[in-house]
Amino acid sequence: MTSGTQVWDRKHLISMSDVTRDEIGHILETAASMREVNRREIKKVPTLRGKTVINLFYENSTRTRTSFELAGKRMSADVINVSVSTSSVAKGETLLDTLETLQAMTPDLLVLRHPESGAHAFLSRNLDTSIINAGDGRHEHPTQSLLDILTIKDQLPLIGKRGFEGLKVAICGDLLNSRVARSNAIGLKTLGAHVRWIGPPTLIPAQAEEAFGVEVFHDMDVGLEDVDVVMILRLQRERMQGAFIPSVREYFEFWGLNRQRLAKAQPNAIVMHPGPMNRGVEIASDVADDPERSVIRHQVGNGLAVRMAVLYHFAGSSVRKG
Ligand code: CP
Repeated sequence: MTSGTQVWDRKHLISMSDVTRDEIGHILETAASMREVNRREIKKVPTLRGKTVINLFYENSTRTRTSFELAGKRMSADVINVSVSTSSVAKGETLLDTLETLQAMTPDLLVLRHPESGAHAFLSRNLDTSIINAGDGRHEHPTQSLLDILTIKDQLPLIGKRGFEGLKVAICGDLLNSRVARSNAIGLKTLGAHVRWIGPPTLIPAQAEEAFGVEVFHDMDVGLEDVDVVMILRLQRERMQGAFIPSVREYFEFWGLNRQRLAKAQPNAIVMHPGPMNRGVEIASDVADDPERSVIRHQVGNGLAVRMAVLYHFAGSSVRKG
């Protein structure tokens, strides 16, 4: 998007590595105005009237699916949720056949979550319709990163920072299986933040420093020292084959965020979690519910605003080039 001219020239949202610093800024600006809509008594605007959004989730979701649906409805789009378990996917239809079938019904946007890393990139080369990545395997979850960035931006005055430049963000836990960690490492580094990945050696991808430009720590107490933001990730046991951790009890003892560990971070450091949380596994309940430090529910509210902004730009409400 070029400031002032309302031109948006990106068709798909697949990876945070495609999204420029300016584009992040424009999405956050739009999201901030969408929050105003969400505070009104009548929470509906005609912005996407006549547009059609199809949501297709091949993996479970509460936050992402609901917020994309609500985002479309609040902007007057026609929103269709395809239930994968009752669709013809269950009869063996391929992903591309399913998406080509849906494309033939002329939607403006396809919002897709799929367990295969790279599914969206493949589809974007084979379909004309705009595709929004709502999570692909371990690869990326760009709208989660955008809502996390908006949440951090909101908290910068509390943290005592003026911007993202030099901000220290620790992303902790199961980095190996986390698309949130990958999208956030890319998005936050685009804005100039320093990103640390903290977790057991079995749950950190090989060559993470080189591949993602992050600092890697295997000791929570060392890695959390002086950070401004602590982002805790869920143990994604559904993606684990074999024993990556000795036991849940030991995992919490060594890698769980509790008050003592949080005290290693800056005094005003905020606590984030993309959800769903496993209390007593990666985070203690009193930390998750701490009204002074935890912004976990604020992240969810921002998820709706960010997805409204994403639909607005990618469904073509701002003029598309070419
Ligand atoms: N954070 C996130 O993607 O949550 P859901 O799986 O509930 O959508």
